[in-house]
Amino acid sequence: MKHILSKNKKLKTIILETAEIAGYLWQRGWAERNAGNISVNITEISNWEISDFDKYPFVELPYPYPKLVGSSFLVTGTGKRMRDLTRKPMNGLLAIKLNPEANGYWILSQKIGSDNFLPTSELPTHLGIHQMIAKRGSDEKVVMHTHATELIAVTQTKEFCSEASINKLLWGMHPETIIFIPKGVGFVPYMLPGSVGIAEETIKALQDHDVALWEKHGVFAIGNSVGGTFDVIDILAKSARIFFMCQSANILPDGFNEEQLGELKLLAGNF
Ligand code: 13P
Ligand code: ZN
Repeated sequence: MKHILSKNKKLKTIILETAEIAGYLWQRGWAERNAGNISVNITEISNWEISDFDKYPFVELPYPYPKLVGSSFLVTGTGKRMRDLTRKPMNGLLAIKLNPEANGYWILSQKIGSDNFLPTSELPTHLGIHQMIAKRGSDEKVVMHTHATELIAVTQTKEFCSEASINKLLWGMHPETIIFIPKGVGFVPYMLPGSVGIAEETIKALQDHDVALWEKHGVFAIGNSVGGTFDVIDILAKSARIFFMCQSANILPDGFNEEQLGELKLLAGNF
């Protein structure tokens, strides 16, 4: 593993940032046991010169991702804890590279016969999102899934289980929310985690938003950096916390009116 990853300074920086942010997810209480997963598209900064692919474990994908031919990703392992990643990043992270048919990948951070583990069970959703980003040609490199408690809690009532109602609530609680998330969040109704259906709905939601809220489960967010992707989820969770603080104090929060939201939205992109 060392010979592949250690010479790449840019990759090392991303690994260290991912480890730091994994610690924040744990501290926030959003990463119980193995909850959450992160992937980073590292194709542009990968400089592997590999001739002996047969030395690395190869895993077939259930269906191909034609737009991701030859792409490389840093991705969290299934069953791995975010809190452990902080201390020993490569004990919970994998570097994978898709084959020329894009219907399978090599695990370049492991050798056949070593103590192997597989990527996150949400890999179909992660790869589907990266493929959607590649198709439209935008810059996002990071896909982050976490069990943001406050955001899960708001989806426990049908009242907030629609794009219109959830965004009205979250935008209304705090100026930062509409400034930094002007497109709002997309909403994905409850479905089995790791399923094809939830991957498809999440990809659809992320075509028009940077965050998809999974009913009664968590969030999927995309961004240019691991830190920046965390920031967006953090802001949304703060809005939800303000709402619940008001509720527990028997205060019915007013929220912002349309005019206030309109002028706040004009500040988007200023910071
Ligand atoms: P993994 O351990 O497979 O990444 O699963 C965690 C999770 O949050 C599933 O939704
Ligand atoms: Zn999850």
